[in-house]
Amino acid sequence: MRILMVCLGNICRSPMAEGILKDKLAEKKLIAEVESAGFEPYHLGNPPDKRAVETTARHDIDITNKRARPFTDQDFDRFDKIFVMDSINFTDVMNKARNDHDMEKVDYLLNQLNPGTDQEVPDPYYGGKDGFERVYHLIEMACEKIANSIKNN
Ligand code: 4NP
Repeated sequence: MRILMVCLGNICRSPMAEGILKDKLAEKKLIAEVESAGFEPYHLGNPPDKRAVETTARHDIDITNKRARPFTDQDFDRFDKIFVMDSINFTDVMNKARNDHDMEKVDYLLNQLNPGTDQEVPDPYYGGKDGFERVYHLIEMACEKIANSIKNN
């Protein structure tokens, strides 16, 4: 299984999702490939936002090695599942899809918790520390579902 997490900047939500899912896979001794990417060019090549690093670190997860990179068409070939955080990411990814097969790989991350409801992981970038902690918990619950579905496969 190869999973790509996508958000706008690739410095807050999707690097947290990448780190959290990798941590769960390691803990459960499961093998899967996990990466993250974004669309906003401003932060490309940068490490994750300090608040994202601090929030995951409080939960013993280190995401400092991540560098923001853009989503590309090839990601549809490289990954089996593409999870987006919000409707903006959903539209951005869908606009790059080349065919129905590509489109079928894309879903909202929180549909793991409430299927078909397209709930969003809110963008914490312009908020404070509380926003990051709330986002952490939403992502963590969804990643637990993903890890368990890999385990049961
Ligand atoms: P992210 O948060 O999509 O969770 O990484 C953002 C980071 C940066 C920007 C927007 C959202 N930005 O516009 O620079």
